[in-house]
Amino acid sequence: MKVLVIGGGAREHALCRSLSLDPAVTELHCAPGNAGIAQVATVHPVDQLDGAAVTALAAELAADLVVVGPEAPLVAGVADPLRAAGVPVFGPSAEAAQLEGSKAFAKDVMAAAGVPTARSYVCTTAEEAAAALDAFGAPYVVKDDGLAAGKGVVVTSDRAAALEHAASCERVVIEEYLDGPEVSLFAITDGTTVLPLVPAQDFKRALDGDEGPNTGGMGAYSPLPWAPEGLVDEVLATVLQPTVDELRRRGTPFSGLLYAGLALTSRGTRVIEFNARFGDPETQVVLARLRTPLAGVLLAAADGTLGELEPLRWDEGAAVTVVVASEGYPAAPRTGDPIEGLDEVADEHTYVLHAGTRSGDGGEVLSAGGRVLSVTATGADIAEARERAYRGIARISLKGSHHRTDIALKAAQQ
Ligand code: AMP
Ligand code: GLY
Repeated sequence: MKVLVIGGGAREHALCRSLSLDPAVTELHCAPGNAGIAQVATVHPVDQLDGAAVTALAAELAADLVVVGPEAPLVAGVADPLRAAGVPVFGPSAEAAQLEGSKAFAKDVMAAAGVPTARSYVCTTAEEAAAALDAFGAPYVVKDDGLAAGKGVVVTSDRAAALEHAASCERVVIEEYLDGPEVSLFAITDGTTVLPLVPAQDFKRALDGDEGPNTGGMGAYSPLPWAPEGLVDEVLATVLQPTVDELRRRGTPFSGLLYAGLALTSRGTRVIEFNARFGDPETQVVLARLRTPLAGVLLAAADGTLGELEPLRWDEGAAVTVVVASEGYPAAPRTGDPIEGLDEVADEHTYVLHAGTRSGDGGEVLSAGGRVLSVTATGADIAEARERAYRGIARISLKGSHHRTDIALKAAQQ
């Protein structure tokens, strides 16, 4: 099978790594990729937002499957011309990707499908925003309606800051605050059958102790030893399946990866957000535990034959990933610095997944983005996986970089 992956972050590196280990995959390509992906796939300098260029590349390579990784090309509709050209594609249409592309659309789908989520108002004026903030009280949750790379949400008890964020966005969703721990649960779907993966948790804030601004995610682990038994079945029945059924009913079936960001509140499980793609960095730990070869699963979703698949097999152990971010991330990331020590990290349980990297003229690896790379490790339990991941992190040096030191710490102590 010839597979083309679209994107160039750590999530796409994790996907490419798993696909490269799948004996069914005879050729692996990625556009645009990054310096790490180039070690396992042939990379192509194609604009991932250009549907015509991506479709032309898929045709030129005679790809049997195209996997669209990030939200930006999905929301821009890159999957649509591929499907129209008859290429099996893993990833939703532009219409179905609105589940991530518009928080207001997601709220509407959830209301129609009876999916439990925070009560909310959609606001376009300062007066509406002020009224919504006062209706819910502090802490305030203000979300930019559109895509914002994980940075469009402000949670604050400062009413003026909440109003300021609302004013900076064209349309916002203001909602009730959800307490309780967060869980990311991914499901692969062909639009009808829904196959949940294992739950993971990510760490969205930039600094230790969940301090600092929201980011795209600074680390993740799986499994969640503290999660209630039956959580996956409950979320499948109350969230994932009803959402997939509702989108099919609307004539815009969702096929690809449905990501439910959940809060386990004192009043029950609630959806915080949906994403229309694999989460980053949770994918790094979820795929680290997947034993079933990946390509056949993604192809079955693309082909509409997921119902015929054997149950997925998982590693009983744990996986932890820790992100190295560049100086200034998330506000103003510094790029262009050499990364050292990369060759000293990998062993049989530990590996580096690149995000914002590129190859320099002399073959060195340079930082090229905010989240630069992540070190992922597996182990018999979270404590072992965590120790290995941090051992890897300690060997890498990048000027001014930062990482959290408390990823999976509490879970490892349980
Ligand atoms: P989102 O982009 O919707 O996932 O929001 C980013 C982060 O903001 C979430 O992971 C939560 O930590 C926080 N957040 C979002 N919505 C809420 C909410 N209703 N209550 C509490 N925290 C929230
Ligand atoms: N880890 C959060 C996200 O992928 O949106």
